[in-house]
Amino acid sequence: MTELQTLTVLGIETSCDETAAAVVRGRPGAVPEILSNVVLSQVEEHKAYGGVVPEIAARAHIDHLDRVVTDAMAEANMEFGALDAVAGTAGPGLIGGVIIGLMTAKAIAQCHDKPFLAVNHLAGHALSPRLTEQLGFPYLLLLVSGGHCQLLSVDGPEHYTRYGTTIDDAVGEAFDKTAKLLGLGYPGGPAVQRMAAQGNPNAFDLPRPLAGREGCDFSFSGLKTAIARAVDAVAAPSEQMAADIAASFQTAVCDVVEDRTRNAMDRFAQKNNLPEPTLVVAGGVAANTALRARLTDLCTAQGFRFVAPPLYLCTDNAAMIAWAGLERLALGRSDSLDVSPRARWPLSEADAR
Ligand code: KG4
Ligand code: ZN
Repeated sequence: MTELQTLTVLGIETSCDETAAAVVRGRPGAVPEILSNVVLSQVEEHKAYGGVVPEIAARAHIDHLDRVVTDAMAEANMEFGALDAVAGTAGPGLIGGVIIGLMTAKAIAQCHDKPFLAVNHLAGHALSPRLTEQLGFPYLLLLVSGGHCQLLSVDGPEHYTRYGTTIDDAVGEAFDKTAKLLGLGYPGGPAVQRMAAQGNPNAFDLPRPLAGREGCDFSFSGLKTAIARAVDAVAAPSEQMAADIAASFQTAVCDVVEDRTRNAMDRFAQKNNLPEPTLVVAGGVAANTALRARLTDLCTAQGFRFVAPPLYLCTDNAAMIAWAGLERLALGRSDSLDVSPRARWPLSEADAR
């Protein structure tokens, strides 16, 4: 397969609470065309429980995936026979959902005699900036979502070096937990951000776990506990107090993420002598405007270019899965239909934790 060949790939994503299918056409090294990108969010199904319930997610994927795939193909004006390959998320994620998407992707590939690609969901996020930007390897990625919190050097479609990860909770989880404690509903990130805008970020003295330490790992459980204590200390927090807690929390998160990311930038810059190194932020928490502002300033100070993909590509979607599949297909790769779904699947196997 030559590098210049234009390829068209169907991607399927079901690893968490979004049922998604997309068709992407392009070739590595050029910004591709997203022919369709259908995302069905299950937020309403999970709202009452204050978080994603794996069993409910899996059932919703079963109910909706066929129609989502049909819609993605129709929107792209494509027949299955015209595809070059089918890519499906094989993990990491909630295993019930992963099984459903992976089986569907394999079935379509087999029926239409197309190559199949088992995509790592994290590779999808990691390669997503190349969907909209001319961006060469390597670049530094900060992945901040409800399930993940990592700093990675993205060295190629199949090569990643993990600089750090969370040793307990993901940052999005901390936002969601804080929102729950403050009675702000689910998903918590946007609600905490809105509330924080009315609050005093210095009102509560919260910990900055791991800040100032060597390395690029994260920890958020201590911060979560501190918020629980602050809320417990008052019978019913007033609107202003809730806003102050939200603002103090968001600032603590920004401080920690900035500190960890600065260490990663130093390591990345030392290893790669690039005229303009790039930091990319992806994942749902990348929607946070305070965090974006912090990272923008950090990049200016450190001489990095800052890239934040559009929000619809930052959160879970299937365009990034189709693209990650396409990048590997262009390298001549495809996967056997025997590939198993995986609840855990670190991007660099050496980092398995
Ligand atoms: O990437 P994503 O859509 O799903 C996965 O977790 O894979 O990320 C969802 C997470 C949730 O925890 C949500 O609360 C958080 O992203 N989030 C935000 C904001 N918007 C979404 N966190 C902080 N500020 C936001 N504006
Ligand atoms: Zn994700």
